[in-house]
Amino acid sequence: MTSGSPTTAEKLNADVPWDAFDPDEYIKRNYLEIQPVDRAILTRVRDHFSDHFAKHGGRGGSGIDVGAGPNLYPALAMLPWCGRITLLERSEQNLEYLRGQLSGYDANWDQFWEVLKSGARGKAAAYTGLGADPRARFGEVVREPLPGSLFDLCGKKPAWDIGTMFFVAESITTSLEEFRQGVGCFMNALKPGAPFAAAFMEHSEGYSVGAQDFPARDIDDEEVRTVLEPYAEAGMKVVCLDNPKQLVRHGYTGMILACGRRRKR
Ligand SMILES: C[S@@+](CC[C@H](N)C(=O)[O-])C[C@H]1O[C@@H](n2cnc3c(N)ncnc32)[C@H](O)[C@@H]1O
Repeated sequence: MTSGSPTTAEKLNADVPWDAFDPDEYIKRNYLEIQPVDRAILTRVRDHFSDHFAKHGGRGGSGIDVGAGPNLYPALAMLPWCGRITLLERSEQNLEYLRGQLSGYDANWDQFWEVLKSGARGKAAAYTGLGADPRARFGEVVREPLPGSLFDLCGKKPAWDIGTMFFVAESITTSLEEFRQGVGCFMNALKPGAPFAAAFMEHSEGYSVGAQDFPARDIDDEEVRTVLEPYAEAGMKVVCLDNPKQLVRHGYTGMILACGRRRKR
C-alpha cells in the first residue's frame, strides 16, 4: 500500500464506527492485568519524563493524551508534572468510560501506578510524592475528557507542555498518509521543548474489540523514526518491545515506543 489516494481496500479514519468501540471488552483484554510490555513502556516513559523535568524544570503545565480510549496509564505517567491534563477522544463510549473514572478510577489502574512509584529514587520521587493513592489528584488534574479528533489539532496553536499518544495514529486507519498526518497533528499540539511519549503497534494488521473490527496501518520503527524526526529534537529514542502474550491485537509483531522532546519550529 502506498501513500497515494485511497484504494478500495483502504479504511480511512472517518469510515470507522468509533462509537462501537467497547471499553469494557478492550480493558478486559488489555488492562485488567498489567502486561509485561506495558510495564516496560511505563518504566521508560516515567524515566523519560523524570529526566526531562529534573533537567529543565517547568512542572505544573498542561498535558494532553491523544486518543486516550479506556487507558489511564499515559495520564498517570503525566500526573506529577501537570496542573491540567486533557484526554482527547473521539468515541462516545470511551468518553463515557473516562468521565466515569474521574471521581475515583477503577482498581486495575493501581498496578500501573505501582510501576510508576517503583523506580530508583531519581526516577520515581515525583510519583511517590503523590502518595499510594493519587485518585484525588487525578480527579483535580484530569478534567472533563475532550470530545474531538486528533486531526483537528493540526489547525490549532501548540498549547500543551507535555504529551502522550498510545496506539492511536497507526490504529485508526489503514492509510499511510493519515498515519503520518495523525503523528504530525499530535506533534503540532506540543509547545517547543515539550517532552512526549508515543507508542505504536508494529506491523499491525488490524484488531477487534468484541465483535467490532478496527483498521491499522502496518508500520515499523523506521517509519516511526522517519515521521517523528522532523518534529523532534536530536536525541529522540525509538525502541521496539516484544509482547510475549500478544493480547492487545492479533497479527502484530511487537510495540514501538518513541520518547523525545518537541523541536522548536
Ligand atoms: C487502539 S485505541 C488506543 C486507546 C488507548 N490510547 C490505549 O493506549 O489503549 C485507538 C483510540 O483512538 C480513538 N480514535 C479514533 N479516531 C480518533 C481520532 N480521529 N481522534 C482521536 N481519537 C481517535 C479510538 O476511539 C480509540 O480510543
